[in-house]
Amino acid sequence: MKLILLGPPGAGKGTQARRLVDTHEIPQLSTGDMLRAAVSAGTELGQMAKAVMDRGDLVSDDIIVGMIAERIDQPDCVNGFILDGFPRSEAQAAALDIMLSERSIALDHVIEMRVDDEALVERLAGRYTCAECGAGYHDRFQVPQVESVCDNCGGREFKRRDDDNETTVRSRLTVYHDQTAPLLPYYRAKGVLRHVDGMAEIDVVTAQIGAILNGGK
Ligand code: AP5
Ligand code: MG
Ligand code: ZN
Repeated sequence: MKLILLGPPGAGKGTQARRLVDTHEIPQLSTGDMLRAAVSAGTELGQMAKAVMDRGDLVSDDIIVGMIAERIDQPDCVNGFILDGFPRSEAQAAALDIMLSERSIALDHVIEMRVDDEALVERLAGRYTCAECGAGYHDRFQVPQVESVCDNCGGREFKRRDDDNETTVRSRLTVYHDQTAPLLPYYRAKGVLRHVDGMAEIDVVTAQIGAILNGGK
């Protein structure tokens, strides 16, 4: 299964991708997670990317495309992968097409996750993750079963993203509408675009994605 989850910041791409990793045993390729790992490691790329991400802008296409090209050649991608946060510009989509055709790989689905802008600001303001295992939570919409204890690993430390403040979130939304939303007609024309109601509850969205994956086109 080769899948793209396409949607604005806070649409639930990461939340749903992590569930698909468990149910479909294919990896989540999140360019945002890769960049944050580079920031944490303090690499040259990380230092450069940090400033761009804090502004809510896009990191250069060449860097991102190189990261993904390297990643899809890893052995864990042989049965498929979930692209989360890539592609997000027309240049990235064109580069992905070339990358896939060189490897004789076809995309199965591009799933658009539709959510209203105001809901996104609220989702991102309330988002946090487990510092130990990366499990995702939300102050209102997804709280751990035992307060302040990660359901997944029992960890007690949580963190919030630097780019989840309202000013940066608004810039990220503008960038999404200007640079990423034009990919929707691009994939519609290819006949691979489907959509889910990302405003629905998390489990309902999971079921909608499951129906697309099980029901073919
Ligand atoms: P990235 O990390 O990809 O961020 P994003 O696209 O802005 O998306 P988010 O991770 O913020 O949202 P999500 O859709 O994963 O939502 P989540 O599931 O967490 O990119 C960050 C930055 O890196 C970019 O701004 C850019 O600078 C750079 N970058 C990354 N990729 C790049 C690329 N390809 N090219 C260039 N630059 C790149 O959910 C959000 C919250 O809502 C959570 O708290 C969750 O619990 C909750 N939630 C989820 N679903 C629901 C629901 N259905 N109902 C209620 N709450 C929900
Ligand atoms: Mg994410
Ligand atoms: Zn955890």
